[in-house]
Amino acid sequence: MRLCRSISDFRAEIASFREAGQSVGLVTTMGALHAGHMALVTRARAECDRVVTTIFVNPTQFGQAADLDNYPRTEEADLALFASGGVDAVLIPTVEQMYPPGDETIVETTGLANVLHGQVRPGHFRGVATVVTKLFNIAGADRAYFGEKDYQQLAVIRRMARDLHVPTAVVGVPTVREDDGLAMSSRNVRLSPEHRKEARILYRVLTEAEEALTSGRITVAGDLAAMAGDMVHGETSGRLRAFDMVDPATFIPITGRIIGPVAIMMSVEFGSGDDTVLLIDQKEITP
Ligand code: PAF
Repeated sequence: MRLCRSISDFRAEIASFREAGQSVGLVTTMGALHAGHMALVTRARAECDRVVTTIFVNPTQFGQAADLDNYPRTEEADLALFASGGVDAVLIPTVEQMYPPGDETIVETTGLANVLHGQVRPGHFRGVATVVTKLFNIAGADRAYFGEKDYQQLAVIRRMARDLHVPTAVVGVPTVREDDGLAMSSRNVRLSPEHRKEARILYRVLTEAEEALTSGRITVAGDLAAMAGDMVHGETSGRLRAFDMVDPATFIPITGRIIGPVAIMMSVEFGSGDDTVLLIDQKEITP
């Protein structure tokens, strides 16, 4: 595996794959790798001749400086995991390379970025769309792989790629979970042991919502949201920050009776102050 600390080295490496007529799959990450990231690498490995990855903790997608400062950084372990997963080249750029002095260009999906989780985290999806556009332009990959857990992020990236005619195909990969159902996330390591136990609530709520909708016990969006609030606040110290229900095809919010497929996106916050951890999860359900 070739470790590139400059964009030009990474590009040269990818150009050599291209000259050999090989297809290239891209996995972008912020490091602190876990099985969820490796599922993206495995899928890329299965579908492309070469797999290239990036590790970049992108400052423009963090709202609070504390969240950025607290983001886990585990470069050595990340490189070992990528190497064992058969990654061919990894780019670890500096902030100055990604955002050169005087950088003033942003990419924003103006509708999708500012609803749902985007309202909880203003500016977050603009930061994601901007950095992913840069990374797509740097790598020029055939396909790029993203987790379905970050459901709105995936929708934002798909929309950005479509609108800007980006030639890289965006591929969604199903969420990888811990044994108790908690979606794998780099943020999980920041949970206290007590909050880690309580964090199972996200998956429990989504499973319960599926049962309630498919059995017909609950049919109205408001009742489902009330059930989620009761479960989170009744059984844990977490705070339900969002419980959004949208049409998976259009992302239009569902507020009344749920008669067709629904995507639920929820977020729960644990802890306080600098130790606050916001977890997200999602599920598509057809009643
Ligand atoms: O999902 C992530 O890890 C990040 O949001 C991404 C896509 C690498 C952009 O920084």
